[in-house]
Amino acid sequence: MSNQDTKLFIAGCGQRFPYHMTVETIELLSRCSRVFTVLPSGLLDLMPLELSSRCESVWDSYRTDRPRLQNYRDVVAKIVNGLDTWDGPVAWLTHGNPIVFDTVTDLLIRYGSQTGTHIQVIPAISSIDTVLIDVRHDPSRGLQVFDATVLVRDRRTISPDTALLLLQPRFFNSDMPLLEEEAGIPDFGPLVQFLLQYFGPDHEGVFVRSSRRWDEPAHVAPRQLKALSQVTLHEIADSSLYIPGILP
Ligand SMILES: C[S@@+](CC[C@H](N)C(=O)[O-])C[C@H]1O[C@@H](n2cnc3c(N)ncnc32)[C@H](O)[C@@H]1O
Repeated sequence: MSNQDTKLFIAGCGQRFPYHMTVETIELLSRCSRVFTVLPSGLLDLMPLELSSRCESVWDSYRTDRPRLQNYRDVVAKIVNGLDTWDGPVAWLTHGNPIVFDTVTDLLIRYGSQTGTHIQVIPAISSIDTVLIDVRHDPSRGLQVFDATVLVRDRRTISPDTALLLLQPRFFNSDMPLLEEEAGIPDFGPLVQFLLQYFGPDHEGVFVRSSRRWDEPAHVAPRQLKALSQVTLHEIADSSLYIPGILP
């Protein structure tokens, strides 16, 4: 099957919307009859009218009263149910790099393999890229990347001499879509216990939230591992946790 037969493009808007939309992504989205997106409708107006007019925000599927997975399945159903009814390809536009920690992308790719639907995933800038810049870490020195919950739940083995980047600390041990107002810092006890097998209690990690614009600084909140639970909700919202390796 040729790439010209693509029925569904999975694209990402990078970290700084709309600045990180690549020329390739804009061109491909312009060819689509419909663009389903996680971006709230207020933000879509930042795109040229020609593009925003064909976008449909699926934000109403992101309910707070059920597990996140159910929300994602609902979104996938919305996208694939109409696939054959549209004249031309359809797109799913998500945050960052679409293949990085994105369950909707994962479910769509599985749907494509099961049904023989031709799907293309388009590269985009991830928060992993922006965090590496914020903490000035060149991964040629090594980098271990995990979902914070998966790391602890699956008891993965890590090397303390290599930096560790943990995504989704805000959702540590929770399946629910937690919104700011619903407050509550996760219980980081099991994460701290896990990390202390490898690092000393005074070793410092940093919660990093990359900025949405070049002229705004990243938000960084350093914490010794023994004091991880002392972060505020504001500090962990949309953040990742970077833990430098122990220098030899
Ligand atoms: C569901 S994942 C989606 C990641 C996205 N696909 C990407 O490429 O960045 C969401 C997680 O990405 C990380 N993340 C998203 N935006 C971020 C930012 N501005 N700064 C740091 N980490 C961020 C956080 O760990 C957050 O919990």
